[in-house]
Amino acid sequence: MILVTGGAGFIGANFVLDWLAAAGEPVVNLDKLTYAGNLGNLAPVEGDRRHVFVRGDIGDAALVEGLLVTHRPRAVVNFAAESHVDRSIHGPAAFIDTNVAGTFRLLESVRGYFGTLQGGERERFRFLHVSTDEVYGSLGPGDPAFSETTGYAPNSPYSASKAASDHLVRAWHHTYGLPTLTTNCSNNYGPRQFPEKLIPLMIVNALAGKPLPVYGDGAQVRDWLYVGDHCGAIRAVLERGRVGEVYNVGGNAEMRNLDVVNALCATLAQLRPGRDYAAQIAFVRDRPGHDRRYAIDATKIQRELGWAPAETFATGLERTVRWYLDNAQWLDNVQSGDYRRWIAEQYTEAAK
Ligand code: NAD
Ligand code: TYD
Repeated sequence: MILVTGGAGFIGANFVLDWLAAAGEPVVNLDKLTYAGNLGNLAPVEGDRRHVFVRGDIGDAALVEGLLVTHRPRAVVNFAAESHVDRSIHGPAAFIDTNVAGTFRLLESVRGYFGTLQGGERERFRFLHVSTDEVYGSLGPGDPAFSETTGYAPNSPYSASKAASDHLVRAWHHTYGLPTLTTNCSNNYGPRQFPEKLIPLMIVNALAGKPLPVYGDGAQVRDWLYVGDHCGAIRAVLERGRVGEVYNVGGNAEMRNLDVVNALCATLAQLRPGRDYAAQIAFVRDRPGHDRRYAIDATKIQRELGWAPAETFATGLERTVRWYLDNAQWLDNVQSGDYRRWIAEQYTEAAK
């Protein structure tokens, strides 16, 4: 079996669902259930005996060590993190606690467990750390895309905390021989993404007749990858990646934010006609320290592991919009409590 951390969040939950559908191998899913963790994401595997959910913190060494000893996973896949740049600007502490200190404690627990493994179990064991392209900083318009050898230059508390976690993973491989793998992926979108991130936030606001808040001039560029493709990349790296290596994962879909929002409005207009969604676009104050452009060179994972995204931005976006339209109940459930407070604070300030 494998141990997944953060498997009630957006990418982790998609990974667990895809994993159980594709591989059938049991999963222990450790998640703290922060505001971003949602057991509703795992509803399709409720009652499935191959999925064991445990609420807890990756930094809780006693809990994690107990899970490792009891379940003896052949791999740990670490998704658990604080993941939202805007939140990291308002309150960086949680990002340091989970992404830096939490990853450190998790690595220590896993190192202890790895030390007890022998023979084939030791040979096969992997620790896969899921990270982001944001660790590489910001590109100019003509700069080459980020490769695995691009220097780290994180600019936000979020990206700095993820960069720190990547360095810890690297060091635990080089110093202690832990068989690690690291993936640095571009912006994901798809079903079950919490509506604080660009695409789901715009869908929710568009449907509610609210402003679509585009930061600054909307000309910032991101590379977009459909979450199912990211999950496929992680499976490929876990099975065939070379120990100690880093793999960049991207969608070959560089887009300006404003173009993303316009594409979204056009898709909505087709699937849920009746309103001029694009007329709701509102330019608001820019994010402090906003990175201008991210782009991923995914040659290595394609060449070594034969992975390439199956979805284009157009096909992935349509699947995503359809999912949100078909899952109004899921949205109602997540749009409560902490989420409502966050939206009120963030966008009242940004509109000033
Ligand atoms: P998310 O915020 O949707 O989910 C994070 C999950 O981790 C939540 O379920 C949360 O409850 C859990 N968690 C947080 N702190 C924890 C802790 N201390 N112990 C245990 N669980 C904890 O994030 P996501 O978008 O699914 O991202 C998952 C991972 O992928 C993160 O490491 C993120 O940095 C990385 N990543 C995300 C993107 C993206 O576009 N979303 C792109 C590249 C990489
Ligand atoms: P986001 O989804 O927060 O991901 P990240 O900051 O990790 O790239 O934002 C994607 C882009 O969209 C980023 O350039 C910021 C911008 N953005 C907006 O213009 N308006 C918004 O309301 C949000 C949430 C993001």
